[in-house]
Amino acid sequence: MLIIINNQNVFSNATTMKLDLPRYTERFGATSLHGVQRVYELDSGFDDGKSMSETLMKVGNEQISEIERKMAIVIPIKGERLRLLEGVLSGVPHDCLVIIVSNSPRQPVDRYMLEKDALQQFNKFVGRNALILHQRDPGLSEALNEVGYTSMLGPDGVVRSGKAEGMVLGMLLAKMAGKEYVGFIDADNYVPGAVNEYVKIFASGIAMSKTPYTMVRVSWIYKPKMSETGLYFSKWGRVSELTNQHLNSLISYYTGFETEVMRTGNSGEHCMSLKLAELLTFSSGYSIEPYEIVNVLEEFGGIIPTSYQDAMDKGVEVMQVETRNPHFHEDKGEDHLKEMVVASMGSIYHSKICPPKLREKILESLRTRNMLEEGQQEPPAPVKIDPFKDIDIRQFAKVLSKASTYAQ
Ligand code: GDD
Ligand code: MG
Repeated sequence: MLIIINNQNVFSNATTMKLDLPRYTERFGATSLHGVQRVYELDSGFDDGKSMSETLMKVGNEQISEIERKMAIVIPIKGERLRLLEGVLSGVPHDCLVIIVSNSPRQPVDRYMLEKDALQQFNKFVGRNALILHQRDPGLSEALNEVGYTSMLGPDGVVRSGKAEGMVLGMLLAKMAGKEYVGFIDADNYVPGAVNEYVKIFASGIAMSKTPYTMVRVSWIYKPKMSETGLYFSKWGRVSELTNQHLNSLISYYTGFETEVMRTGNSGEHCMSLKLAELLTFSSGYSIEPYEIVNVLEEFGGIIPTSYQDAMDKGVEVMQVETRNPHFHEDKGEDHLKEMVVASMGSIYHSKICPPKLREKILESLRTRNMLEEGQQEPPAPVKIDPFKDIDIRQFAKVLSKASTYAQ
């Protein structure tokens, strides 16, 4: 018997991911913070039309592809090995626009040039376009000055160093390119398959979201470490544990109920709708991820007034999705971890909604871990980056086109 399969149907019925619907949600003003959702199948196969259980959701291939076409993936990079960057590029779905924002050294070897060459070569083979630019390019600061967006500029007139600064530049380029969503993936990831999963998670989260103001954060199932007896599959990084604990205390203080809802306080791998991203104030360097949550609560938590009524009406959603792939990345040592802890704690501590009791708790955690420098009474207040919603993006693009390099 000959069975004729209508390809169109097969395609539209194929599903890509099967994952939990949010099981519980903390509501904080107009913000819904959803508890961690799990991925059940990375590829959930052909949809035979049988109904799903009410707690799981399948997200279709077509829907995912459509979202990927509207998504930019920003890869911040500072001196990472090129092999790792190439692996990350190979994991990003073809239809996403790749934006690399580099702060790599240009001397004695011009690492940025090498990154550009690698990207160009990769793109030639896969037939894709991408954007790459160097964070400290003087042409870029000219464009920022031109549109009056100067909160990222340092005393030397060019954009400050820092991961957050790289990410915000990436968001500006995403907006310039007319994208609706922007995701972030670190360049030092060893596993291209994990990168691919992150983007599928981003797209699935967006597909599930009920508001245009949305954020999807990745929670790693394991972050393996080398130990004497081999690989150890640890669940929590030391930084994340502290950050999450204090973010949860902040939420509990206002709701009156203890919670463990926040599990992705430091998640570098996350995405947002540009509609949400352009409203946020960002915090410099490595404090950007925890402060995104703090700022969402500041703006949309109903504690202090906001000028963004549309987002208050439609609501803001934060989803957290646990990966199937473990997260393998470069180990950058103790001092780096300390820098991240202090920056993360500082971003909570200095928030105008941080209650005095939580401030004391933060100080105590930092002191018992010897994280504060001699004579330092509190963690330094992180430098802030203004929301970019009012930038004249066309004008920015016009001036920038001289400075950035379009890699084809
Ligand atoms: N453009 C730019 N500018 N990129 C930077 C800068 C900078 O000044 N500093 C670091 N990066 C890049 C790195 O090259 C890497 O691709 C990515 O940003 C993350 O930096 P890492 O130095 O590898 O940070 P990490 O791995 O310790 O921490 C990551 O994970 C944490 C969660 O565990 C970061 O993403 C943190 O922000 C995150 O909280
Ligand atoms: Mg890293």
